[in-house]
Amino acid sequence: MIAKDHTYIVMGLLDPDSIAFAIGQSIEHWGGKVIYTVQSERMKRIFLDRSKKLSDDEKEALDIRFCDVTITEEVEALFDDVGTISSVVHSIAYANPKTCLGESFHTDAIDDIKTGFEVSCVSLATVARYAAGAMPDGGTIVAMTFDSQRAFPFYNWMGVNKAALEGTVRALAREHGRSLIRVNAVSAGPLKTKAATNIPGFNELAETWNASSLMPWDTENDKHAVANAVTYLAGPYSDKITGQTLYVDGGACIAGGVLLPHERPA
Ligand SMILES: NC(=O)c1ccc[n+]([C@@H]2O[C@H](COP(=O)([O-])OP(=O)(O)OC[C@H]3O[C@@H](n4cnc5c(N)ncnc54)[C@H](O)[C@@H]3O)[C@@H](O)[C@H]2O)c1
Repeated sequence: MIAKDHTYIVMGLLDPDSIAFAIGQSIEHWGGKVIYTVQSERMKRIFLDRSKKLSDDEKEALDIRFCDVTITEEVEALFDDVGTISSVVHSIAYANPKTCLGESFHTDAIDDIKTGFEVSCVSLATVARYAAGAMPDGGTIVAMTFDSQRAFPFYNWMGVNKAALEGTVRALAREHGRSLIRVNAVSAGPLKTKAATNIPGFNELAETWNASSLMPWDTENDKHAVANAVTYLAGPYSDKITGQTLYVDGGACIAGGVLLPHERPA
């Protein structure tokens, strides 16, 4: 599914529940070499502390670098340092849950809105700009999104960021297509991670999902289905696919209304 022994950068590791970790494991499963990034040195310690199920040898084998995507110099330094790569996965988002995700969409916290936009959307363009230099023979960029066609309760400004992120994916696909760099997004259904638990009402959102998902949706185990779709878009079997958002959500995005009793899984 991917080019064996090629290097894949997976950005956005926080703890073993991060979608980034499932993506890295999927890429390694198919023979790729993974370099993870965390936001800071402190985050690396948090990751290692929270990875109780990993042996010391497994932890030692992980290649983890630091990169705060809001600091352009750090992004530039990362891609100067990694040599030639096949792909970069952007699995990063942030919005202040107190002001940007809540019962009301309206907020006075304009600076928080700007920070959320910078981290969750603009950073994809920063990453693409510097990652392109590490892909002289072409490559792929994959971002993580959440259905921005519909307005969900509590998701508020992050929903706006995701709509902008998907627009950025299309703009970057246009910009980098001539350099044989493909840019796509995977739109995942709700998954239990740190970012998700920061969303007020996440449990209600997950329940809503199972009311409209055509296939049963598991907020923990379906992380692996999402990760495999990212691996597909990161690798050569998705050649000529660019500027797209691929939904891995149990089919919820195409369902009209909630499932009727006879349509629900037994
Ligand atoms: N969990 C879900 O239900 C779900 C569904 C669809 C899409 N997504 C998306 O998947 C991606 C990964 O989220 P996750 O659920 O694995 O949560 P997570 O909390 O494990 O990952 C979010 C990551 O963003 C990083 N980050 C935040 N600010 C940063 C910065 N300035 N520089 C570098 N890194 C920074 C965090 O350190 C963390 O590693 C996000 O884009 C999220 O919106 C999540």
